[in-house]
Amino acid sequence: MCGIVGYIGEKNGIPIVIEGLKRLEYRGYDSSGICYHKSGTLRIKKKKGKVSDLEALISKNSFGNIVMGHTRWATHGKPSDKNAHPHISMNKKISIVHNGIIENYDSIKEGLIQRGYKFKSETDTEVLVNLIEYVQIDLKVSLIEAVQQALTQVIGAYSIAVMSSNDSSNLVLAKKGSPLVIGVGQEEHYIASDPSPFLKYTKKAIYLDDDEVAEISKNKLSILTFDKKIKSPTINKLTMELEEIEKGGFETFMLKEIYEQPKSIVDTLRGRIIKKSQIIKLRGFNESVDTFKRAKRIVIVACGTSWIAGLVAEYIIEGLAKLPVEVEYASEFRYRNPIIYKNDIVIAFSQSGETADTISALKLAKENGALLYGICNVVGSSISRLVNVGTFTHAGPEIGVASTKAFTAQVSVSILIALAIAKLRKQISKNDFKEITDALLSIHEKMQYTLSNCNNKIKQIARKYKNSRNALYLGRGLSFPVALEGALKLKEISYIHAEGYPAAEMKHGPIALIDENMPTIIIATNKRNYEKIFSNAQEIKARNGKLIAIVSQGDNQISKIADHVIEVPKTNYYLSPLINTIPLQLFSYYIASFRGCNVDQPRNLAKSVTVE
Ligand code: G6P
Repeated sequence: MCGIVGYIGEKNGIPIVIEGLKRLEYRGYDSSGICYHKSGTLRIKKKKGKVSDLEALISKNSFGNIVMGHTRWATHGKPSDKNAHPHISMNKKISIVHNGIIENYDSIKEGLIQRGYKFKSETDTEVLVNLIEYVQIDLKVSLIEAVQQALTQVIGAYSIAVMSSNDSSNLVLAKKGSPLVIGVGQEEHYIASDPSPFLKYTKKAIYLDDDEVAEISKNKLSILTFDKKIKSPTINKLTMELEEIEKGGFETFMLKEIYEQPKSIVDTLRGRIIKKSQIIKLRGFNESVDTFKRAKRIVIVACGTSWIAGLVAEYIIEGLAKLPVEVEYASEFRYRNPIIYKNDIVIAFSQSGETADTISALKLAKENGALLYGICNVVGSSISRLVNVGTFTHAGPEIGVASTKAFTAQVSVSILIALAIAKLRKQISKNDFKEITDALLSIHEKMQYTLSNCNNKIKQIARKYKNSRNALYLGRGLSFPVALEGALKLKEISYIHAEGYPAAEMKHGPIALIDENMPTIIIATNKRNYEKIFSNAQEIKARNGKLIAIVSQGDNQISKIADHVIEVPKTNYYLSPLINTIPLQLFSYYIASFRGCNVDQPRNLAKSVTVE
């Protein structure tokens, strides 16, 4: 949550930071602000609302060559001008932008109040900036030392950037838990929560690690660990291109990302299937093959859509490799004293690689000796650096808050891992291996076909149901998690209440909701349980429910009784989520657009949830 951007150099950093904040709005978008130096004082502009509201506040002539900014997703204190960052200390000496949560802010605040400090906002961040100021005045130390000392009193997660009114050439940074990356330019430095704000200016990036503080000026940079050891920074070369983070002619990032799926699957699979020798080439897997040989089970931890991808992976790995899999919400896993065995493999699914609960779940698994395997989309992210081994999804930057292409990329990696384990455990025949890998290597064509052929029809159906208050999504087998994902997408972006259910469970509850106004979306493409799902479809029609059926081309049973039919190309059962998810993404997308919702930035949500 929350995005941080900063600039220090010769240029006017204000427009650079504003533009950067717009790129980071996916991380939070309820208020934003900037701070820059002017005539020995710290100038702050901040505003509730979008970054464009902040931009309107700032005069075109404003100039700052040391600037930091923040876009907020509220945790402590509701969205307001007052609670927006940057926050300034009581004596106006120090300002801060912060991503994360200070858990013990109450007790620190109490101590500061006793020392005469007064607070204007309801945030934990204002407590931290005052603590830093207090420490600096009390101990008469430099800013970096004051930050370091202050942070020894803090419990929580943070990435921070700090400016001082007495120092117009340095910024101080610190990180624990939340991400922070430094962009290295010519006689200038950038900072950001991810590299997208400075990609236009430099491709050299240094990722701060946990428990590190840094001091940067336009041409100097020093990083220290919390125990004051100097660290020589590793400069990473970014491979991301600017076009990847632009809308490229689409109305929204979400629609662009839905349409990018055929490409992102090709990118994710590239070089990983060696057809001739029937080999799955995954470095992370190969490096841990002995653990995969010994493992009695896999535990998957994730949140949100990534958790649903984990559920898909469970069906695929158990189905193909016959290795037991448990899928856990990371937030539940970490707090319920889970039983973790030494030979367990704990796989984290995470688009951002920054989700706080998933990180904590992994840390717990690590303490218990499990092998950590990460499936992340962001190179350099916290999870990708924490795990022992992993496989990147190469979906490219996902900016729409509701996940689309990252999900299908995660599913494609799950199929690869399942095939690799199945081969290792001798659970799959050469023919089945060939059938699945052949299908996988051409799945992008079917995905493209689905996008091109279903789009208009789905748009028409969406128009009809845009005012629904509820929706039910049903599927069996691998289509059950797909139903969950369809329902989640609709909730997230259109604010219509939706539930995903295993189709057979409908009669144990949701059937009571069905009437002539209730749309049910049924996913009925798989041969293996077709008759059963046909019965569920009949049960819905018998109660006058509206039925939208996703079926395979040529279907002539459910199609006859459904109110609306969306035909998709036939594919191997294990690959079906890659196709069936697409119409559901488009359906939610168009419903949300017809309702006038902000599809890329749905209310109350954030793309990267770096707090518990
Ligand atoms: C947030 C996002 C979801 C995402 C979830 C997990 O809730 O809005 O789209 O699925 O976090 O994020 P991760 O980056 O770990 O996949």
